[in-house]
Amino acid sequence: MIKPDGVQRGLVGEIISRFEKKGFLLKGLKLYQCSKDLAQEHYKDLKDKPFFPRLVDYITSGPVVCMAWEGDGVVASARKLIGATNPLQAEPGTIRGDLAVRTGRNVVHGSDSPDNGKREISLWFKEGELCQWESVQIPWLV
Ligand code: TYD
Repeated sequence: MIKPDGVQRGLVGEIISRFEKKGFLLKGLKLYQCSKDLAQEHYKDLKDKPFFPRLVDYITSGPVVCMAWEGDGVVASARKLIGATNPLQAEPGTIRGDLAVRTGRNVVHGSDSPDNGKREISLWFKEGELCQWESVQIPWLV
């Protein structure tokens, strides 16, 4: 998911491009203004953290871009492409390492496990919003 700061800063194309160029397949995509309820449910594991209210305010402060990416090892690889939570500790070459400076404005979210990926897709996308298709590039990528 591209967070509201990523959308407001005009980084949508740049961020999508990194996942496309890596070779993952885009199966779902939408610009979406989320409710407080959805933000709280999405980050429910962090509800006892002191930064939780600020995090919910931030995620609901403007539209986000919801994305569903498919490919071998996509969850772990996306975490690497995204970089460390604190952008100042994220390696150059990662999205956060290249494009952000603050943990509280770190431009992008990625699921931290395949199970959470499934959970988050069902939270953020409705039935019928994902597309099933195969890339003609696949034979050259494998
Ligand atoms: P977390 O799931 O720990 O990180 P990641 O996004 O890298 O999986 O935290 C979720 C988000 O919460 C994080 O992207 C930014 C915010 N956050 C803060 O605002 N302050 C903090 O100290 C931490 C750890 C996270």
